[in-house]
Amino acid sequence: MFKKSILASVVTAFCLTSGAASAGPEAEVLHWWTSGGEAKSVAVLMEEFAANGGAWTDMPVAGGGGDAAMTALRARVLSGNAPTAVQLKGPAIQEWYEEGVLANINSVGVAQNWDELLPAAIADHMKCEGEYCAAPVNVHRVDWIWANAEVLANAGIEMPTSWAEFNAAAEKLQGMGITPLAHGGQAWQDATVFEAVALGIGGADFFRKAFIDLDEATLTSDTMVAVFDQMRIMRGFVDENFSGRDWNLATAMVINGEAGFQIMGDWAKGEFVAADKVPGKDFLCTSTPGGGFLYNVDSFAMFDVKGDNKVAGQNLLAELIMGQNFQKVFNLNKGSIPARLDVALDEFDYCARQSSYDMDVASGNGSLLPSYAHGMALRGAQAGAITDTVTAHFNSDMSSQDAVAALAKAVANSM
Ligand code: BGC
Repeated sequence: MFKKSILASVVTAFCLTSGAASAGPEAEVLHWWTSGGEAKSVAVLMEEFAANGGAWTDMPVAGGGGDAAMTALRARVLSGNAPTAVQLKGPAIQEWYEEGVLANINSVGVAQNWDELLPAAIADHMKCEGEYCAAPVNVHRVDWIWANAEVLANAGIEMPTSWAEFNAAAEKLQGMGITPLAHGGQAWQDATVFEAVALGIGGADFFRKAFIDLDEATLTSDTMVAVFDQMRIMRGFVDENFSGRDWNLATAMVINGEAGFQIMGDWAKGEFVAADKVPGKDFLCTSTPGGGFLYNVDSFAMFDVKGDNKVAGQNLLAELIMGQNFQKVFNLNKGSIPARLDVALDEFDYCARQSSYDMDVASGNGSLLPSYAHGMALRGAQAGAITDTVTAHFNSDMSSQDAVAALAKAVANSM
């Protein structure tokens, strides 16, 4: 009797586990959200996935901007063992599609009516030959200045509205022994500052010609020389330990008052918020001088993998990612705004509301532009060529004239 019931319960338990395993959605998710604010944000997706019966295998690859994550992805795909879902964005989605390794999630997109819920420009980024192959979680804005409110008040400085004002404010802070610009010397961070400066100095048409059309005359123009001149000035505003510093550690310098400003996308706001700092009181945000809006949409693409559980996991993830509540809670943590147009912003702060308003205005006047530094505007080779030059200039005494010549050459070689 005793023996029998043990056997019976073992058999029952086995059936339950194996039954659950074969029916349950599964996903191995590759992403690069490892900072404090990022980890809190991705946890929202993990929790919703688990609450819906999903088994999540986490594959975080640290490294801001995702360069290390993309290297890890390449290795996995080459070895024939792609993760089920991958944080992937911009033209890289279509590049992977052309390799024939992406899964199609169009049925979820159609069932949830994504065409109606998303701005057309964002929906386009998510499609491969007209069908959904990726799901967007947010809209990050790249061209922001973040500041420590108390540091600025003590210095009698307002948030700058021109690059001349920024330079004057930075010099004042420097004179007081405060690092004006919190920065991490990693190529993608140099590129982030560079594209904000380029948009500010050159304007939307210049940005488009330079970083979307890759027009040689624009790349070597006097305006581009002026952009590199401003980058040289910026180099003088960073502390001597900036090399290799992670972006979130640079944000921490602003949070703790060691530095005045950081120029960074609004994932930086996720760090302030995770540190319980209040926008408008502890920290300030304003768009970088010059106008326009550089967007950076995070999304997940699904890779072609075998197994019903994995396919179920991909569909569940896609469905959850576009869920109204997920888009709210995730973005409150992440610092970005929802990709979905129908999420109310009542619970969002003034930075997020400014982002949403400015995005609308920019979309109406032709200055809503994809971030080149965050992989939204160009294919990898071309973006990499620009960034290599930007970082070579930032870390040497290269003249602006030499920098524009090097830029045009690097871009030509990358085609
Ligand atoms: C991503 C953000 C991320 C940031 C820093 C950006 O390229 O879009 O989601 O927080 O890099 O890692």
